[in-house]
Amino acid sequence: MWRYGALLPVEAHWASRLVVGATPLVDCGDDGGVRLWVKDEARNPSGSLKDRATDVVLAVAKRAGCQHAVTASTGNAGASLACLAASQGMSATVVVPASTPSVKLAQIRAYGAKVCEVEGSYDDAFDIAERMADDASVCCRNTGINPFTREGKKTCAFEMAEALDWRVPDWVIVPTGDGNILSGIAAGFLDLYTLGITSAVPRLLAAQADSANSVTRDWRACDDAMALPESPTQVSPDTVADSLAVGRPRDHFAALHALRATRGVCVALSDARIMAAARDLAQRFGLWFEPSTAAGYAALGECLATGRIPPRSHVVLLGTGSGLKSPQCFDAVTPGHLQDYVDAARRRMPDDPGYVQSEAQP
Ligand SMILES: Cc1ncc(COP(=O)(O)O)c(C=O)c1O
Repeated sequence: MWRYGALLPVEAHWASRLVVGATPLVDCGDDGGVRLWVKDEARNPSGSLKDRATDVVLAVAKRAGCQHAVTASTGNAGASLACLAASQGMSATVVVPASTPSVKLAQIRAYGAKVCEVEGSYDDAFDIAERMADDASVCCRNTGINPFTREGKKTCAFEMAEALDWRVPDWVIVPTGDGNILSGIAAGFLDLYTLGITSAVPRLLAAQADSANSVTRDWRACDDAMALPESPTQVSPDTVADSLAVGRPRDHFAALHALRATRGVCVALSDARIMAAARDLAQRFGLWFEPSTAAGYAALGECLATGRIPPRSHVVLLGTGSGLKSPQCFDAVTPGHLQDYVDAARRRMPDDPGYVQSEAQP
């Protein structure tokens, strides 16, 4: 990803020695009437897109002379920090909620980082990590606090556009919790457009879990920019998509701006649909992602059923994290294939006009 160094805030020689980015854009061909690609971010060193952010954050920290970094995490940001800090010769502390999957904890510990498990939510972990970093010599990677996470995530947009010969897709689907990937992807495409490298910006489809749907609710509530809520709607997450389990999104404002700037859409899905989508992605394309990514694929099914995404659209799904990170979700018998839900949604539509969201954009 350092090939795009001219658009990054720190020189490449401060970056880790690991290869971050340059992930494949897998051509899945025709799927449900649209042309689908999946950006396989599971190929990053710690198995998720978070490495793009962490590499830039630690490069900046290293240049500033920091030797220690701390972050709150639902798992992946922590694994990413632990991994890249090890490669940078830095120490790391990761603050996680008690609900963090054991595989992700094992990964963080394997890289030698200190794990602080809090008896509480990700939101509690966030505040604790912020207090731990109340010292200029400590780098705080917390999403929405550290401005460089978004800078790193922009490179994913650059790669998608380059792989498609600088013709942007119609839609990019972004699994969304705090909203930092969403705002990073938007920022990347807007950079390319502003520089005249591309001639359009894709519409973003943000995918959330039903119980962690703060951005979805606020997006629906916004009529125009003046109506952006000052603080996010607080929700109580309880979802199989643990990476999306955020009660109070920390990049909320930027996420809503990203949706507005790209004429984006935000939908939330049930756990049953998310797991059906995870199974479909694995069994139809050989792509095993964690449930957060599957929420994105389920959102595609939803938007095809409601007509929000028209046939023949070019769509990229961000495969944000490897299925190996959440194997416990796949132990249970999963319900039917995603198509069952899409068919059910189509059957429901005539009787339920409220089912199709209005076109109003925040
Ligand atoms: C695999 C994966 N997908 C999606 C997300 C959501 O990203 P954000 O919190 O920036 O919206 C995360 C965040 O932890 C993640 O780890």
